[in-house]
Amino acid sequence: MAVTDREAPASVLKAPSKRLTSAELSTTKPGTPGGIFMRQFWHAIGRSQDLQPGRALPVRVMNEDYALYRGHSGRVQLVQQRCPHRGALLHLGWIEEDDIRCVYHGWKYDCSGACIEAPAEKAGFEKNVRIQTYPVDEAFGLIYGYFGPGEPPAFPPYPESAGDGFIEVWPDVTVPCNYLQSFENSMDEVHVAFTHAPGGSHARISVDLPIITAEETPWGLMRYGKRATGLVRHTLHYAPNIVRTVVPPQFGMDGIGGWVEITFHFTPVDDENHRWIITTKVRVTGDDVEPYWVKRREFYAKCAAAPNVDQLVQDIWSGKVPYADVRHPVLARVQDIAVQAGQGRVENHETETLGRSDAGLALWRRILERELRIIGDGGTPKKWQKAPADVVPTIGA
Ligand code: FES
Ligand SMILES: [Fe+2]
Repeated sequence: MAVTDREAPASVLKAPSKRLTSAELSTTKPGTPGGIFMRQFWHAIGRSQDLQPGRALPVRVMNEDYALYRGHSGRVQLVQQRCPHRGALLHLGWIEEDDIRCVYHGWKYDCSGACIEAPAEKAGFEKNVRIQTYPVDEAFGLIYGYFGPGEPPAFPPYPESAGDGFIEVWPDVTVPCNYLQSFENSMDEVHVAFTHAPGGSHARISVDLPIITAEETPWGLMRYGKRATGLVRHTLHYAPNIVRTVVPPQFGMDGIGGWVEITFHFTPVDDENHRWIITTKVRVTGDDVEPYWVKRREFYAKCAAAPNVDQLVQDIWSGKVPYADVRHPVLARVQDIAVQAGQGRVENHETETLGRSDAGLALWRRILERELRIIGDGGTPKKWQKAPADVVPTIGA
């Protein structure tokens, strides 16, 4: 029987959506437009201090697995996850000088990826064996990897903030949702007055609601938050997943360290998980440095003794713990994860109702969709630049 308009189910009558779905916009799987887009950039993949010489670790980035190790010279190496002999995990291997030897049958690979020993095979056999290596470098206390084709872009991916002080690298956190949700949240200054109202950690920037505007730049997106006072807060969103902003004195620090410049890298693990890799530029010098670290160590001790954040978020979601009653040394983090990951592993954009306060994230979605379409059509995507050092975030409060 022919299907007439009257008989057709609503889903057939509905014109196909021209917009990319949130799953298409936010995926980083290799070979997809999203995955190709994201692989144009350096990605923060860990803390330098967590990878001592002679140590190897597994790392999963954008739906793919790798082995990361530091040679005895201090050099960092990023290589494919498995040995090409029989698929053993390379991060179980021994680090010999700057080379890695597979723990299964002893095949050994140098920094170029060449196999230089295959002990049980005939001499010369190893010459036909290689592993894939990836560009890797260190800055700001972090290790960055490049997973795309060809030469990587300029390194480091953004300028170091000028002025006295030092960089503190926070222990990193895995958040159970797509990276785009956190990147978009970073463009959503209005949430601060509501999400972070319990506990009052952000009271200084919650006195009124800013009017949000944003513009595309050669390096990403600049967002402005204009207050009733006329003051304007500038926040830098470096493509494709880094935000640099100035935040109120850190929770639990009793004001020591003052307002800090904070940089979040929202590094995708896969399409349903990402990491917050965070550094702060602490503008403390001289005799004030030791009191800062005393306070900071107290803070980390409190964090270690406090309830597990993931469990607390689960308890908030299940209704066991009321959101407004939660108190924790990293309360803002608990609140952000409960709200952002609570949107779903991959939030559905089609059921949203955006307003003027969403101007920042709406612009980023348009940019992302434009770039993904160009990539999908085989065109030439935008050549993103490194931001100039004099474009800096401001408090605006
Ligand atoms: S699997 Fe690595 S040497 Fe055999
Ligand atoms: Fe937040």
